[in-house]
Amino acid sequence: MENKKTLFSAVQPSGILTLGNYVGAISNWKRLIEEYDCIYALADLHTLTVKQVPAELRAHSYELAALYISCGIDPEKCILFCQSHVHEHAELTWILNTMTYPGELQRMTQFKDKSKSHSDNVNMGLMDYPVLMASDILLYNAHLVPVGADQKQHLELTRDLAIRFNSRYSDTFVVPEPYIAKTGAKIMSLQDPEKKMSKSDANVNAFISMNDDRDTIIKKFKRAVTDSGNEIRADESKPGITNLLTIYCCVTGKELCDAEKEFDGVGYGNFKIAVGEAVADLIEPVRCEKDRILSDKSYLDKVFADGALRAEHIARKTLSKVYRKVGLVERKF
Ligand code: TYM
Repeated sequence: MENKKTLFSAVQPSGILTLGNYVGAISNWKRLIEEYDCIYALADLHTLTVKQVPAELRAHSYELAALYISCGIDPEKCILFCQSHVHEHAELTWILNTMTYPGELQRMTQFKDKSKSHSDNVNMGLMDYPVLMASDILLYNAHLVPVGADQKQHLELTRDLAIRFNSRYSDTFVVPEPYIAKTGAKIMSLQDPEKKMSKSDANVNAFISMNDDRDTIIKKFKRAVTDSGNEIRADESKPGITNLLTIYCCVTGKELCDAEKEFDGVGYGNFKIAVGEAVADLIEPVRCEKDRILSDKSYLDKVFADGALRAEHIARKTLSKVYRKVGLVERKF
């Protein structure tokens, strides 16, 4: 384990994950597990920035942990934990809040978008969300943060805060690098390829859920919006086909140019079915394994307990250092 760099990432248990979350984030997590000391969290505190049904949030948290494990995130090989179990995340957020300016948070694209889509509940947490995310990352001195393209702006703020703290109080935090994959960092809606695929989309045909069965997946791909013309080629004038080709390549591991050749002369209808089949082949075993793991809650509770202890050990050290540097009296009892 020595000399490895640290990697941190998280997903919100705000619903059942989509194919976008899988391709943009989780699929990279497993690949990086041997190379880095990996810390993966369930960002449950983040979910409270929009209204949640408490029982559903709890159920989604167990389900997300089971999904991580079924995707190959082995809790023996990394730290897997629940953000709310390690109180240092909320504490570091307070310290970082005192050095973050409202303007920096108000200009965040996600804050602006969510303020519109949740206009009845624009709360302080929604605005402060990126500072909690910065705390998640900085507490573990992560070097690398694998995320989808929509989190890039939050990563930039994290870097700014680390640099600001370091220059005000001397070197403390590692300044993290984002890891945004070249292909698949932004999987688009199947109904509107100009929009990101999102689990909160009102139209269920717009996204593939990691809980969808084979028939549903194929039906959704058959209904996917395509473009004019009949050529299967990735380019800017063909956002629908490009998105489908990207999905196909991400789930099969093929290169775009090879996929274009494979579907040369094939009609849109058959192409969409082929993409659906490839996605179903990937999701089905993951879903079955997830359901198997989910049936053993006591195992998941053990994973959470073990993960929290290991995460807390690192987080506590960083937070004590931060408290000392900003001038708080050291706790000696
Ligand atoms: P969340 O839960 O919205 O999304 C989880 C991950 O999925 C990626 N993603 C996508 N990638 C490709 N195409 C899409 N359509 C798509 N939709 C989502 C996201 O970029 C993300 O990587 N704030 C984070 C969770 C978080 C976090 C952190 C991440 C909390 N603390 C610290 C990294 C480090 C979020 O809401 O992700």
